[in-house]
Amino acid sequence: MKVNTGKGLAAFWAVMTLGSTHARSGDCDRSCLEALISDYLTALVAHDPSSLPTTPDVKYVENNQVLPLGTGEWLVAGSTGKYRHTFSDPESGQVGTITTITENGVGTIYIVRLQLDDDGRRISEIETQITRDADGAALYEKMGEPESVWLQAVTPEQRIPRATLISQTNKYYSGMERNDPNGNYSFFDTDCNRLEDAVQTTNIDTGDPYGHSNDTVFESLGCEAQFQTGFLGFVTKIRERRFPVVDEERQAVLAITTLDHNGTVRELPSANGTSQPIPAYFDVPRTLQAAEAFRLRGQGKLWRIEMTLTEVPYGMSSPFHEGAPVDVGGEGTEKTIDGPCGRACLEKELDRVLDALLAHHPATLPLAEGVRYSENGQFIPLGDGLWETLGDVAVPGVNDYAARFADPSTGTAAYWGLTREQTTPGVLALRIKVDRGQITEIEAIDVRAESTGARGGTMTLLRPPLPIEWEGNSLGKLDPAFQQNKTAGRMYRFSTNKLMHKYFDGMQRHSGRRVPFAPGCTRRDNGARGNLTCAAQMEGWGVAPNGLYRDTTVVRDRRVLVADAERGVVLAVAMVDGPAARELAPVPETERVPSTFMVPQLIKVGNGTIERVEGMVKWMPFGYTSAWGLEGRS
Ligand SMILES: *[C@@H]1O[C@H](CO)[C@@H](O)[C@H](O)[C@H]1NC(C)=O
Ligand SMILES: *[C@@H]1O[C@H](CO)[C@@H](O)[C@H](O)[C@H]1NC(C)=O
Ligand SMILES: *[C@@H]1O[C@H](CO)[C@@H](O)[C@H](O)[C@H]1NC(C)=O
Ligand SMILES: *[C@@H]1O[C@H](CO)[C@@H](O)[C@H](O)[C@H]1NC(C)=O
Ligand SMILES: *[C@@H]1O[C@H](CO)[C@@H](O)[C@H](O)[C@H]1NC(C)=O
Ligand SMILES: *[C@@H]1O[C@H](CO)[C@@H](O)[C@H](O)[C@H]1NC(C)=O
Ligand SMILES: *[C@@H]1O[C@H](CO)[C@@H](O)[C@H](O)[C@H]1NC(C)=O
Repeated sequence: MKVNTGKGLAAFWAVMTLGSTHARSGDCDRSCLEALISDYLTALVAHDPSSLPTTPDVKYVENNQVLPLGTGEWLVAGSTGKYRHTFSDPESGQVGTITTITENGVGTIYIVRLQLDDDGRRISEIETQITRDADGAALYEKMGEPESVWLQAVTPEQRIPRATLISQTNKYYSGMERNDPNGNYSFFDTDCNRLEDAVQTTNIDTGDPYGHSNDTVFESLGCEAQFQTGFLGFVTKIRERRFPVVDEERQAVLAITTLDHNGTVRELPSANGTSQPIPAYFDVPRTLQAAEAFRLRGQGKLWRIEMTLTEVPYGMSSPFHEGAPVDVGGEGTEKTIDGPCGRACLEKELDRVLDALLAHHPATLPLAEGVRYSENGQFIPLGDGLWETLGDVAVPGVNDYAARFADPSTGTAAYWGLTREQTTPGVLALRIKVDRGQITEIEAIDVRAESTGARGGTMTLLRPPLPIEWEGNSLGKLDPAFQQNKTAGRMYRFSTNKLMHKYFDGMQRHSGRRVPFAPGCTRRDNGARGNLTCAAQMEGWGVAPNGLYRDTTVVRDRRVLVADAERGVVLAVAMVDGPAARELAPVPETERVPSTFMVPQLIKVGNGTIERVEGMVKWMPFGYTSAWGLEGRS
């Protein structure tokens, strides 16, 4: 993987739900659980789940995405590694392991948790985290096995009780959330050490900077002293804390949590007492999922910590979260829009939403009771996400790259243009829906620039590089045709829905033949155009112009966001799966991980044919589905 940021990259990252502790009738003891992990990994690299004892409705999850068992990693896993750190919990019928596998030939850290059903014989839950850090995987392989203190059996008389193991572990997360330099961190053992992606990041004086920061002292400190700097205060929330695997005999807990960084914390206290600006990676809201093991001793002190993490879309919940569902409906305001809302009114409301985003203040808007807000496919509260980080929005008619669209027949309007959060540029597709004088839906898709700069740049943690990255380099002018009225003649030869499907069908089939492209049609992905016609681009996606779609299969969750009949523009979005499961030369190995692209597309139609397409690509974990798409299915 190209994201080589040196040591400690992983380190940068409330309702509490305790791991459910069902009583088990069938007893699968430690050796039975360890054998199950072995069988699981053997089946995985054999690409054959059929040998596993699973319940008919087994839930299989990969980096937070629910997938059919046998897909995703099951098609690309190559071989298992040597390092295997297993946690066994016969009481709850769960087992978890931190190990390594290869994925299309590249090493990756792999964490899997299995839950047995009540008879203790069949697997009912499979939760996996794939942390695509080849350096970390190589380090684990070099270590070969966990430090021996993890594997020692503790006599029953000397054991810290199960509930205390969990409550003491939880203190780690409460301490890290908005990390207060004056907090009480006495829950750390004085000899505590932490590994992050196999790298020791405590009590080690290498002079290397830590994570995305320039702090060269942090790693020389112990666990408690690190928390006493307040450095980790940029983690604004740690939600959905689960402690599913409690290995009482070895006094260890395997926890899985979700760490939000809402982008509002702008300074990091350094280990030397000065304040430093936060790295650009944290300019924008981020959510990281952490699988973290703790070894406790004495009066419940944290003695060893072993963590790995990966990034998921901001605000996303784990499919295993058992607490209250995310409350998707916001509070309404008393304000309303007078009279019917035509094009001019819709465009005005759109501008007011953008202004409110910039002012970080949604309450000025005419919001309907239960108004919903989503960011990149996740429902989050109004006021969160872009509502706190947006700094600049390009203005249509003033700036080069910005446009507005409206569809009075459905009460929808959309913005497409450049944004900036701190130093990070993005392309925002924003849709609003107005119904009976109030805004009922606001949907934002922001494709942020991802650059491979110093200290990890701003690239989504541990995602593979794309064949064509948008690193915030100039997109030039948005083709003015998008803002002009449709050309003469019919606009859509097909309904907008049918038009969208013809377009996405072509993308799925890798063939422009049945897509109604105009002869002079031009099309861009992440600002790159190439010199092929629109139809030839689809035919030639294996080689040109940029290879973005060379390994993609299904184009699903297709949605028209806004269809502007006057301008002849359809704004649509879909999820494009790239399972990376075929041997396709000349794809570099580092690009061959299962991915899903979220692709907002601005499609200009004139006289029944597609004349222009402006498309952006956002990388998502494989199998990602937008909350709106899920809703459409139910
Ligand atoms: C810190 O917490 C521990 C455990 O709860 C407690 O015994 C100790 O008195 C606290 N220290 C301070 C300075 O409050
Ligand atoms: C403190 O540490 C920061 C890095 O975190 C470094 O840039 C700065 O120069 C240091 N200041 C002093 C006074 O050592
Ligand atoms: C780290 O140091 C480099 C080089 O001095 C500087 O360009 C960068 O802005 C610094 N990053 C942070 C987050 O302070
Ligand atoms: C974002 O984090 C800051 C700092 O922790 C907090 O004050 C603020 O309430 C958070 N915003 C939201 C929407 O939760
Ligand atoms: C676009 O068309 C609308 C009506 O169809 C008309 O009112 C408007 O003036 C036209 N705009 C331009 C720039 O031609
Ligand atoms: C629109 O397209 C049709 C063929 O589909 C053609 O006959 C007609 O002349 C076109 N109209 C204009 C105004 O270009
Ligand atoms: C299109 O671009 C490719 C690669 O840049 C180049 O080899 C080819 O000659 C170009 N074709 C035309 C017709 O300009």
